[in-house]
This record gives sequence, structure tokens and C-alpha cells, in this order.
Amino acid sequence: MSHDSWAEPWKIKMVEPLRMTTREEREAAIRDAGYNSFLLRSDDVYIDLLTDSGTSAMSDYQWAGIMLGDEAYAGSRSFYHLVDAVHEVYGYEEVVPTHQGRGAEHILSQILIEPGDAVPGNMYFTTTRFHQEHAGGHFYDVIIDEAHEPDSLHPFKGNIDLAKLAAVVEEYGVERIPYVSFETNVNMAGGQPASMANLREVYEYCSANGILVMLDATRALENAYFIQQREHGYADTPIHDILREICSYSDGATVSSKKDNLVNIGGLLLLRDPELARKARSLLVAFEGLHTYGGMSGRDMEALARGIEEMAASDTHVRSRVGQVEYLGDGLIKHGIPIVRPVGGHAVFLDARAILDHLPQEHFPAAALTAALYLDAGVRGMERGIVSAGRDKETGENHHPKLELTRLAIPRRVYTQSHMDVTIESIARVHENREDVRGLQFTYEPEELRFFQARFEPVG
Ligand code: F0G
Repeated sequence: MSHDSWAEPWKIKMVEPLRMTTREEREAAIRDAGYNSFLLRSDDVYIDLLTDSGTSAMSDYQWAGIMLGDEAYAGSRSFYHLVDAVHEVYGYEEVVPTHQGRGAEHILSQILIEPGDAVPGNMYFTTTRFHQEHAGGHFYDVIIDEAHEPDSLHPFKGNIDLAKLAAVVEEYGVERIPYVSFETNVNMAGGQPASMANLREVYEYCSANGILVMLDATRALENAYFIQQREHGYADTPIHDILREICSYSDGATVSSKKDNLVNIGGLLLLRDPELARKARSLLVAFEGLHTYGGMSGRDMEALARGIEEMAASDTHVRSRVGQVEYLGDGLIKHGIPIVRPVGGHAVFLDARAILDHLPQEHFPAAALTAALYLDAGVRGMERGIVSAGRDKETGENHHPKLELTRLAIPRRVYTQSHMDVTIESIARVHENREDVRGLQFTYEPEELRFFQARFEPVG
């Protein structure tokens, strides 16, 4: 069936009522939360765009799988279903289940990174870089310059700059580079894809030099969609085939199954080399669980196997998923609100630096904008700027990311077009009154991944 709209290829079978709050209630809630949206109670949130992670609505087919999950401690039938689904959709031979994405990142970093190694990657992700540094590695950002420009309309802002990569290889030598960390649909860049040409080129370069390529395939499905839409020669290729080709240009992948895979919990470490997989499994039993469940229950694995099948079964799912995100982004652009463009795959990123241009970065514009948005209509976003970037491990100085963003991530199959309209209206109102938004300062700054639990107060 073909039609022009991104309309959803599903209908609603069960609903979850939402609590509406007053402005006074939201003022108290955000103050109690130390102006950090992570510390709000979800009961105080109307439209929750904190994250697209673990917030998807499962299908009736997945829920039926919850009842059929095999809870055997070892050799669960649901694990073997999951292995089959991964073989079919991603194509990696070795499947190591983990409790979520960071579990896979932890194991991968521990088996490959030695202290003093360099890990080049296309922009950092918080937990990914944490585990690389925790294993003694040093992360180097080798993404193309355009990724740091909110206004650049480059169609593949997730691409790796081969000259930057070669410079790191030159400096360290191949033996000190355990792998290149290649994220699909780069989250921190605004949900921006890499092109197939770039994936292929990086893999050819690395293979020729004996360097592994490890994908963060958390949002590879959404990346596949952008390749289909934007890259020459892929317009008629099914998403399923594009996804397989993306994965073919890598030696393995970590996946947070809480995104593309349409489940609320779960993760995967996927490999080709049986020897690497053996090492991974031997750590797995200490940190995650036995190699046939890795921290998931049997029902989690059954729902995950079905989610993986479902996401790639036809192109209409991803089209409608990204279509809804683009609807929100286009609505904001029409109101003249500065956002990262092109609109990304999983979220719209407000350019807090441009919107609150009266605030210096030291006063956390993205965190302040996120709090102001919540106050207006109970829409919850997330800071993705200087607070998320944290401090340099060696110098203790704040990283100063060029992108100072408030992220509005859209859960899959959860909200309606009218929820998106309410969000657009609320942001337009905040934008109108942006002069009134005050900056924030820390009252508590955690040592690690500080954005999760930091507390703030308004400056002055
Ligand atoms: N990689 C990427 C690109 C991610 O976006 C995330 C999580 C992870 C790895 C870690 O996976 O949460 O399952 O342990 N991102 C969430 C977000 C938290 O809101 O963007 P996890």
C-alpha cells in the first residue's frame, strides 16, 4: 500500500491516562527536582520527551511473547529466538545478550582497550566514552566538522572525517588503536546519519590497517532510513537490506535495544570473531549474567526477538517513526525556532545557545531551557550541552561542546500528532518570552555522568 503521509501503520489498543498539572504544581516540581529534568517524577510530566530509550510501546505480538518467554536459566528457547532474529536482521554471527546498551559497552571496552590506547569515534556518547575511559582509553572525536554546526544542512552529519582518523592513527600507531567506535545516527550530533559510502570507506581503511570497526548500532534502523531517503542508489532498496549492508562494514556492534528494537529493556554485543566472543562471554558471566540471558529475563528476550523482527519487517514502521519526528521539527522551523537541521531520526534538538543568547555557556543555557519548557506545559526534554559533556579526565576542566542543545526525544509508537502540536505551541511560547529565562548554577555536581543527578538553582 502506498500513500504520501507518514501516518502510523498501527492503531491503539490500550491507553495509559496522563495527569495534567497546574503551573503552581510544576513550579514546585521543578524546584524539588533541582531544575534537572532527570529528577522529575513522571507523574508530574504531561508529554515525556526525556528519551526514546526504553519508552516504546510494544505491539500485541510482542506482549504475547511476554507470556511465552522461556525462563530457563540456561539455554532458554527465547534466547535462541533472539539469536535467529539477530542473524536475520543484523547478520552478526556471535550474539552476546546484555542488560542494556552500556552493559555491552562495558564488556567490549574491557576486552579490547588497554590503558593508553586511543579510541577514535564519531562524536562521543556519554556512557560509551565513560566505558572507553574507564578501561584506560582516550576518546578522540573524528566526526566531520559539519556535525558541530547546528545550521549545516549536510545530509550525513554523522560521517567520519578520514583525515582526522588518519591523524589519530599516525599519532598512536595501529597497535594502540583497538577499534574505531562508529555510531550510526549519531545521538549527540542531533540524530544524524552516516552515509553508506562513508561506512564502506572507513571499513576499507581500517581493514587495510588491521583496525577493527565497532558500530554503535543502537539507532542503525533510523540511519538506514536516511540512507534510503538521501543516498544515491538506495531509494528502492528495502530497509532490511540497507541495515544488513551497514552492519557488513563492521567487525561487531553494541546495541541498546531500548531504542530501534522496540523494547523497554535489553542490549546486545554482536561480534563476528568467535575468539573475541569467547572473551566477552567469560566477562559476561561476572558482570551481566549467563551467556544465554546476560541480564535479561526470558520474556525480555522473547519481546526483543519479536521487536527486532518487527522493526525491519517492512519500511512503513521506520517511515512513520521518523515522519513524526520530522513533523515536530518542521512545525518548530515554521515558528522560526532555531533547531539542529536536518531534523534527526529520534529527536528534535533545540539550539539553546541561539535561543538563550543572553546566557553564557557557564550558566547552562540548555539546562535552563529544558527547565523553562517543563514549566510552561509539562513537556520534559533533556539537556545535551555542557552539563552532559562533563569534565576532562586529566585536567578537570569543563568540556565546552560547540553544541548546546535541549533534546526532545520521541518515544516510538507512543504519542499522537496532537501531542506534537501541544509541544510546538509550548516551545513557541517559551521562545517568545526567552528573555525571562535565567541561567543555572550547580548546587550538587556528581563526579561521573553528572547530568543524571546534578542539582541546580537559578543564577542570581
Ligand atoms: N549508545 C547510544 C547511541 C545511546 O543513545 C545510548 C543510550 C547508549 C548507547 C546506552 O544504552 O541506555 O541501554 O545503556 N541513550 C539513552 C538516551 C540513555 O536517552 O539517549 P543504554
